[in-house]
Amino acid sequence: MYTHTLLLLLLLPLLKPGVCESCSLVVSPAGLVVKYGAPASANCTSDTVTSMGWEASQGKDFSMGVKERTWRVDSLTDWKIKPQCYEISEVGGQCARALDVTMYKLPDRVYIRYLSHSDPMVEGHQYSLHCVVQNIAPIKHLTVTFYKVSTSGEQTVLYTQQLNNDIREPVNESFSLQFSPTSVDGGAQLCCSAMLDLGPEGPQPPPVMESECLNTTVHFAPEFSCSAKQQVGEGEGLTCDVRGNPLPSVTWLRDGQVLTPPTHLRREDAGNYTLIALNRIGKANHTVEVEVLPGPAARGASCQAAGSAAVAVLLLQLIRWLY
Ligand SMILES: *[C@@H]1O[C@H](CO)[C@@H](O)[C@H](O)[C@H]1NC(C)=O
Ligand SMILES: *[C@@H]1O[C@H](CO)[C@@H](O)[C@H](O)[C@H]1NC(C)=O
Ligand SMILES: *[C@@H]1O[C@H](CO)[C@@H](O)[C@H](O)[C@H]1NC(C)=O
Ligand SMILES: *[C@@H]1O[C@H](CO)[C@@H](O)[C@H](O)[C@H]1NC(C)=O
Ligand SMILES: *[C@@H]1O[C@H](CO)[C@@H](O)[C@H](O)[C@H]1NC(C)=O
Repeated sequence: MYTHTLLLLLLLPLLKPGVCESCSLVVSPAGLVVKYGAPASANCTSDTVTSMGWEASQGKDFSMGVKERTWRVDSLTDWKIKPQCYEISEVGGQCARALDVTMYKLPDRVYIRYLSHSDPMVEGHQYSLHCVVQNIAPIKHLTVTFYKVSTSGEQTVLYTQQLNNDIREPVNESFSLQFSPTSVDGGAQLCCSAMLDLGPEGPQPPPVMESECLNTTVHFAPEFSCSAKQQVGEGEGLTCDVRGNPLPSVTWLRDGQVLTPPTHLRREDAGNYTLIALNRIGKANHTVEVEVLPGPAARGASCQAAGSAAVAVLLLQLIRWLY
């Protein structure tokens, strides 16, 4: 045993994978994907009876007069492990074959955060979102996806990212996304997921870890959505949708005069009305040219196309607040 160990020590610096052309060693399987702490094994076979073994930081092995040796570890924990099967033949040649071991560890935690806390967000501004993946290995096989979930549950991918980094040990990594919300993102959730895809030899389907999601509130300036021309039946009211967050205040103007909009329009109320909406984020105005048609029967199209009888009754409320 002593002599073999000595021999091995002398030979080790010379061992390189496939040093000699005639190296008959076959390692099976050629590669392993092993979870940290899990058992692992591989076989090495030679086509002649020989002195052979495995050189590795875990599961070292050597024997004489054999054709096959198995490398076996009950719990693989050395991130740097690079097992090599070697043979020392009587005619003086020596050769080695490497076993490619990929060790992995699923993240302890995946979370998403703003770089600097900011809720509510403001439409059009840019925010840095970070997705932090803790204690993951190997980082090279990780794909991080930022996505949003709308209030109706629809998912949209915002960004996917991979790192080209050969570190084998577990790392903490932070991925970032510049996000610029629009008013429709209000109420949506922002999330990220981390997928470890180790290929066909890895776990199937590739494990995915989801972050908790950030609820978003998006503040935005008032926006009007009604046509510039409205035909309204006599006795009806005017409606115009305005959206904004926070809730905008609305002022009605006619000929430069502030007024309370008439709830039951008369023929002489026809004319141009200007609405001014204001909130913390901004100000908007919109002018509506109103034509009053004789009698309710002559109702034309208005910006509330669905202005059914039920709505008409409620038209005392002149503005529908929408978020
Ligand atoms: C190694 O060989 C033994 C028998 O020779 C076999 O039972 C075992 O499945 C093999 N292991 C691998 C990892 O191929
Ligand atoms: C990753 O972060 C966690 C929590 O901050 C820490 O406990 C751990 O040591 C870090 N791991 C590495 C590899 O830096
Ligand atoms: C985010 O909103 C969801 C429902 O939309 C709610 O269940 C959850 O508690 C909210 N999370 C936070 C942190 O406010
Ligand atoms: C309303 O405005 C339109 C367009 O500026 C103009 O043509 C029209 O004469 C105005 N109507 C009244 C009643 O002032
Ligand atoms: C309406 O907005 C325009 C620009 O969008 C501005 O020039 C105009 O002065 C505004 N009118 C009022 C009454 O605020």
